[in-house]
Amino acid sequence: MPKYRIAWMPGDGVGVDVMDAARLVLDRLALDAEYLPADIGWEFWRAEGEALPQRTIDLLKTCHCALFGAITSKPKEEAEAELVPELQGKGYVYRSPIVRLRQLFDLYTNLRPCRAYPGNPLNYRDSIDLVVFRENTEDLYAGVEFHPVPAAVRTALKASPAMSKFDGVPGENMAISCRILTRQGCRRIVRQAFEYAKQYGYPTVTVVEKPNVVRETSGLMVREARKVAAEYPDIALWETNIDAMCMWLIKNPQDYGVLVTSNLFGDIISDLCAQLVGGLGFASSGNIGDTFAVFEPTHGSAPKYAGQYKVNPIATLLAAQLMLRWLGEREMSDRLEAAVAAVIAEGKVRTYDMGGDATTLQMAEAVAARL
Ligand SMILES: NC(=O)c1ccc[n+]([C@@H]2O[C@H](COP(=O)([O-])OP(=O)(O)OC[C@H]3O[C@@H](n4cnc5c(N)ncnc54)[C@H](O)[C@@H]3O)[C@@H](O)[C@H]2O)c1
Repeated sequence: MPKYRIAWMPGDGVGVDVMDAARLVLDRLALDAEYLPADIGWEFWRAEGEALPQRTIDLLKTCHCALFGAITSKPKEEAEAELVPELQGKGYVYRSPIVRLRQLFDLYTNLRPCRAYPGNPLNYRDSIDLVVFRENTEDLYAGVEFHPVPAAVRTALKASPAMSKFDGVPGENMAISCRILTRQGCRRIVRQAFEYAKQYGYPTVTVVEKPNVVRETSGLMVREARKVAAEYPDIALWETNIDAMCMWLIKNPQDYGVLVTSNLFGDIISDLCAQLVGGLGFASSGNIGDTFAVFEPTHGSAPKYAGQYKVNPIATLLAAQLMLRWLGEREMSDRLEAAVAAVIAEGKVRTYDMGGDATTLQMAEAVAARL
């Protein structure tokens, strides 16, 4: 029996193209794994009213981890309009399958390494090596939202004097999305960041929040960060506001290493960091819990390129590399990253985003040849 059971979730659009590339490379590495195809994405929403069917959740529970391509998602009304006629008007509501996976499997760490590989013509600057730890289950993504705002919610919120400002606004003219952070949630994401910094030799961890304005939630994250930091005397804790951090990342990105933040700030800042090192074609991520993890490129299904085998597979190859490392296959993981770095440095094989005309699979072949 193979050593690992890996759920294989290409999803939609170019998700299929880049996952074919990942498979080519994993097969060349001869990872001792069984890859189990799992249904996820838009066609399942349209046909079944569920982009993440229960059978997929059941399958994932039998796997060590999952590799995921990309999905298409659309706003509520548009999504409903695309359901097969039999399902329309039956109350189906589109939910992002990746957000659901994070919640269902408590994948609380979103790990986003952003490294400027030498020779990448898309690097904003050389020597950038950032690793973003984004809390993945709480904050504004917890889904505690109201519109219109029910009277009971309104009454409860009067516990805050600041609510009086909205006294005259009818519930239907107001929308509320709750930013909820827990002590445990803050502590565990900060701990992951420090453990990573310790393991890979980063001298600093920067907590990125906004405690001067968003006092309670950002305040909790920063206070917990200080407590965790006290256990790592060799690693400095830097504290920066999210707005200033965006500026510093453009000005001096090479000064920073590990960054840790809450869900929404992390979502924003990790895209900024990704763009510093080549953009979506290079941005990989891991959604990691205590016993299960889902690895993915962070780009979407890029419908205009779907099935053309044109997009850059490096983000997905780097996601596979994170997966190998998480599985404990450190040597294979290092070998894969070195092969990616070598192909980029050589500069002969480049996809369209890098100014070349290599296909998705030609890039994967070039990496595989370097393994
Ligand atoms: N995690 C996910 O699966 C995810 C993430 C973002 C968007 N989406 C969904 O994907 C669909 C398309 O969204 P979008 O067009 O805003 O974002 P996108 O990431 O799919 O693509 C935006 C553009 O980025 C470029 N790009 C993306 N991936 C690339 C790659 N690997 N190599 C080179 N260039 C690449 C292309 O020019 C593409 O048109 C939407 O339905 C959206 O909701 C899914």
